[in-house]
Amino acid sequence: MLDTSRFNRRRVIPAIIVLWIVGFALTYLWQTDSLTRIQLFARAPPSTPPQPPPPSQPVPRGYRAVVYNLTDFGGVGDGKTVNTEAFERAIAAIKIYENKGGGQLNVQAGKWLTAPFNLTSRMTLFLEEGAVILGIQDERYWPLMPPLPSYGFGREQAGPRYGSLIHGQHLKDVIITGHNGTINGQGKSWWTKHRKKLLNYTRGPLIQIMWSRDIIISNVTLRDSPFWTLHPYDCKNLTIANLTILAPVRGAPNTDGIDPDSCEDVLIENCYISVGDDGIAIKSGWDQYGIAYGRPSTNISIRNLTIRSVVSAGISIGSEMSGGVSNISVQNIHIWESRRGVRIKTAPGRGAYVKNILYRNITFDNLRVGIVIKTDYNEHPFGYDPKALPDIKDISYFGIHGTGVRVPVRIQGSPEIPIRDVVFQDMSVGITNRKKHVFQCSYVEGRVIGYIFPAACENLDIYNERGELVRRSDSQNVSDIDYSF
Ligand SMILES: *[C@@H]1O[C@H](CO)[C@@H](O)[C@H](O)[C@H]1NC(C)=O
Ligand SMILES: *[C@@H]1O[C@H](CO)[C@@H](O)[C@H](O)[C@H]1NC(C)=O
Ligand SMILES: *[C@@H]1O[C@H](CO)[C@@H](O)[C@H](O)[C@H]1NC(C)=O
Ligand SMILES: *[C@@H]1O[C@H](CO)[C@@H](O)[C@H](O)[C@H]1NC(C)=O
Ligand SMILES: *[C@@H]1O[C@H](CO)[C@@H](O)[C@H](O)[C@H]1NC(C)=O
Ligand SMILES: *[C@@H]1O[C@H](CO)[C@@H](O)[C@H](O)[C@H]1NC(C)=O
Ligand SMILES: *[C@@H]1O[C@H](CO)[C@@H](O)[C@H](O)[C@H]1NC(C)=O
Ligand SMILES: *[C@@H]1O[C@H](CO)[C@@H](O)[C@H](O)[C@H]1NC(C)=O
Ligand SMILES: *[C@@H]1O[C@H](CO)[C@@H](O)[C@H](O)[C@H]1NC(C)=O
Ligand SMILES: *[C@@H]1O[C@H](CO)[C@@H](O)[C@H](O)[C@H]1NC(C)=O
Ligand SMILES: *[C@@H]1O[C@H](CO)[C@@H](O)[C@H](O)[C@H]1NC(C)=O
Ligand SMILES: *[C@@H]1O[C@H](CO)[C@@H](O)[C@H](O)[C@H]1NC(C)=O
Repeated sequence: MLDTSRFNRRRVIPAIIVLWIVGFALTYLWQTDSLTRIQLFARAPPSTPPQPPPPSQPVPRGYRAVVYNLTDFGGVGDGKTVNTEAFERAIAAIKIYENKGGGQLNVQAGKWLTAPFNLTSRMTLFLEEGAVILGIQDERYWPLMPPLPSYGFGREQAGPRYGSLIHGQHLKDVIITGHNGTINGQGKSWWTKHRKKLLNYTRGPLIQIMWSRDIIISNVTLRDSPFWTLHPYDCKNLTIANLTILAPVRGAPNTDGIDPDSCEDVLIENCYISVGDDGIAIKSGWDQYGIAYGRPSTNISIRNLTIRSVVSAGISIGSEMSGGVSNISVQNIHIWESRRGVRIKTAPGRGAYVKNILYRNITFDNLRVGIVIKTDYNEHPFGYDPKALPDIKDISYFGIHGTGVRVPVRIQGSPEIPIRDVVFQDMSVGITNRKKHVFQCSYVEGRVIGYIFPAACENLDIYNERGELVRRSDSQNVSDIDYSF
């Protein structure tokens, strides 16, 4: 038998000593923590208040520990004063609460001109009714950033690119919301300079959040972005809801609405989008850079949107998809007055895949082409590998309806990039004039279940409503692509 009493004594005494040490250490840490906080303010430049102002009243709309107004930091909402410093100071004050419940920054009614600024973790940017954040138009105020690693280049020009008006990197738990306040990029001067080739770098997005997680963007209006409007890059767990995204439908180049790029676990719902390029464009990097970076866009659910894209498409996947795109569901979408409805774009050189894509209950209203898959979309960075072929498969179209569409379907695979496992069920799309070549296919394999209108191309197998094979196609590679209308 063991002598348990001696055994216990040997353990109890050291345990008491350890407790003493821990107790002292905790007291010391607590004191230094408060010291650091005081010093932080003491070291701040003279323009900064000696300590953060007391939280504004009335307090919590959200669940953050402190609530500030932008005016607490000297913000002036007259549309002329530049408020960059006020934003930066407010956000620095909130950063102190990062591990103490976070903070909310209220932007009240008014016009708050600012240069780009960075968000911090555990913060809520709250735009009250009538609040408008205005992006400064002078590009000298816009910081340059290195190209995105999965693109290798600034998208429009080699080398660095402008950052975004509202920016964030390596963040966790950020909310941008409000009572339908507006973030306005005042993009017009950028579009004009871009057209006149006066810019030396790629334009910046309105909002860009990179390498972050647990993000909510809702209940605000985003308008007139210089470039893409909302660009989440390599993020996880994002909710984007209840947004109004606006830009002129013509003459506002590249003002895509939302571009989830190498993102995972994303919900986009209840938005109205009317912009000068794609409403939504899911991406994951460009050719050899995207392949090397290797981060897919996956598990993205998009539902209940109304989209207008007069010069481009309602919802696109690609053309930059070199990290792969999978598990995308697009449901209850109304696309009107647009050039294309739902589109997948890729090319030799992109590599990777687009797979497991579901479109359900999509309404087309006045479009040129409804459903598009295109496998020869050019635009490559220098040094790409044309032998890197993407794999495009498992794409379902269920419940596709609408009127006034010139070409309801154009699925153009190629000998190098055939398209596999395409499924159509329950489609009725009213066509505008021509009756032939309205369901165009080439190098596509898949099936149609039950009656659809217009009738499917001969490339697809035909099944009846009960799922029984009626006719197997032996013409998957026949080509009937006609761009003449
Ligand atoms: C902060 O904003 C709220 C709402 O606009 C207002 O009621 C409150 O008085 C403001 N607080 C301060 C300190 O300005
Ligand atoms: C925002 O943060 C990024 C990354 O740290 C930095 O490159 C950029 O200059 C910052 N922008 C501003 C306006 O401070
Ligand atoms: C939000 O404001 C925009 C215009 O800025 C407007 O079109 C939209 O209907 C508003 N949304 C809500 C929910 O009130
Ligand atoms: C672009 O570069 C040229 C030549 O260096 C310079 O003169 C011009 O001011 C630059 N433009 C902008 C918008 O930065
Ligand atoms: C996703 O983000 C939301 C909002 O920040 C958060 O409440 C939720 O817990 C996160 N989910 C996961 C699985 O991390
Ligand atoms: C969007 O609005 C709906 C209805 O008003 C609300 O239930 C939902 O919570 C909102 N979503 C977000 C993320 O704010
Ligand atoms: C957005 O507004 C809806 C209702 O107007 C509200 O239920 C929801 O909580 C708001 N979202 C956020 C993140 O505050
Ligand atoms: C997909 O994302 C949603 C959030 O939008 C999340 O709740 C769900 O768990 C994710 N699914 C998988 C398989 O990761
Ligand atoms: C769909 O989104 C719109 C806003 O664009 C909203 O008014 C409507 O309530 C949403 N419908 C459902 C079923 O959530
Ligand atoms: C993608 O979908 C497949 C099959 O439906 C599922 O097994 C997988 O977990 C999903 N992955 C993600 C990241 O959602
Ligand atoms: C189909 O989507 C529309 C919006 O485009 C929506 O009003 C309708 O309720 C949806 N139908 C079903 C069965 O979900
Ligand atoms: C169609 O083309 C694909 C790939 O180019 C090839 O693998 C397949 O055998 C062809 N099918 C027919 C029926 O010719």
